[in-house]
Amino acid sequence: MKIFALIPRNFNLSKKLITLMLTIFFGGIIVSSVVYYNILLGNAKNELNTQSNVLISTMDSVRKYNLDHVKPLLEKQSEEKFLLESIPSYAVRGVFDILTNSYKDKYGKYRYKDAMINPTNPKDKATDEEIKIIYKLSQQDKLAGQNQNIDQGFFMINGEKKFYSARPLKITQSSCLICHTSLNNSPKSLQIYYEQNKYGANQGFGWELNKIIGTKIIYVPADNVYKIANENFILILGIFIAIFALTIFLATLWLKQYVVQPLNRITQVAEAVSLGDMDVEFKKHSNDEIGRLADAFTRMKTSLEIILKRLVKKRDPNHDE
Ligand code: HEC
Repeated sequence: MKIFALIPRNFNLSKKLITLMLTIFFGGIIVSSVVYYNILLGNAKNELNTQSNVLISTMDSVRKYNLDHVKPLLEKQSEEKFLLESIPSYAVRGVFDILTNSYKDKYGKYRYKDAMINPTNPKDKATDEEIKIIYKLSQQDKLAGQNQNIDQGFFMINGEKKFYSARPLKITQSSCLICHTSLNNSPKSLQIYYEQNKYGANQGFGWELNKIIGTKIIYVPADNVYKIANENFILILGIFIAIFALTIFLATLWLKQYVVQPLNRITQVAEAVSLGDMDVEFKKHSNDEIGRLADAFTRMKTSLEIILKRLVKKRDPNHDE
């Protein structure tokens, strides 16, 4: 093969083998680490994706449970005194707060938000980045129609890398607008609530049907998932390098013992024979190609001895051994 010709000719066999193996080794390491690292990054992103999907769907289920089962029960009482417990998104925030506080070790850094351009509760005010996401989701919504509309990506928040997954918030039921159109039109109990300065004046009104007015957004810490991916990468790379290093070491050792040293011995004997020393012998140590080479040399030496004897006899017929 042409590629073998690239190895310098004056290298001995061990050097040639080491050069060849190191080339394969480095090429192999570079290609496989790029492929493997990308697989690990893909897996890490899948992991973040799965976690955020599960959590957003769980929060949606809490919202639905509250809307279908809690809100109707509290409707009457809410007319007298406004009960936040009857508001689905209040329940969602409450449940998520319990999750992050009760399971601090695992979920302490997770965040969920109903991020709104014009929120009722100031806590839900979208940040500049979130407003961009809401705008993006509205654009996608116009194009995608019925398709599931999601935006995902990464943010650095307080020096920590977070994966976010955002879904659009759209008002699809006109019953929602009772409380989200204007203060004057909203239930009396809610008006009193506003008068107690619980929310910013006139915040959370003017929402329109079938328009994207916010996003359900979840933030999952990414550092740990990537740390695990990096650790796995280093571990596998380490094992890979160790296996290759051992292979090169054993292959060169084998080459030395079974090829280089026997060949050196044959060379030494051949040199001695060429200088006229016929007492030395080509010893056969194995039944392989090198063994056969030793046999061939032995036959050659025997033939040489016979020819030499004949020559000597010819020159001096009286010479007897
Ligand atoms: C009885 C009045 C009322 C009705 C009806 C109502 N909401 Fe609200 N909504 C509120 C209040 C009050 C809040 C603020 C809750 C809080 O402090 O967390 C709120 C908050 C929200 C939020 C969180 C963002 C924000 O503005 O703080 C969303 C999203 C939301 N509502 C959507 C809906 C949807 C969708 C419906 C219809 C299914 C609906 N609302 C029906 C009163 C209402």
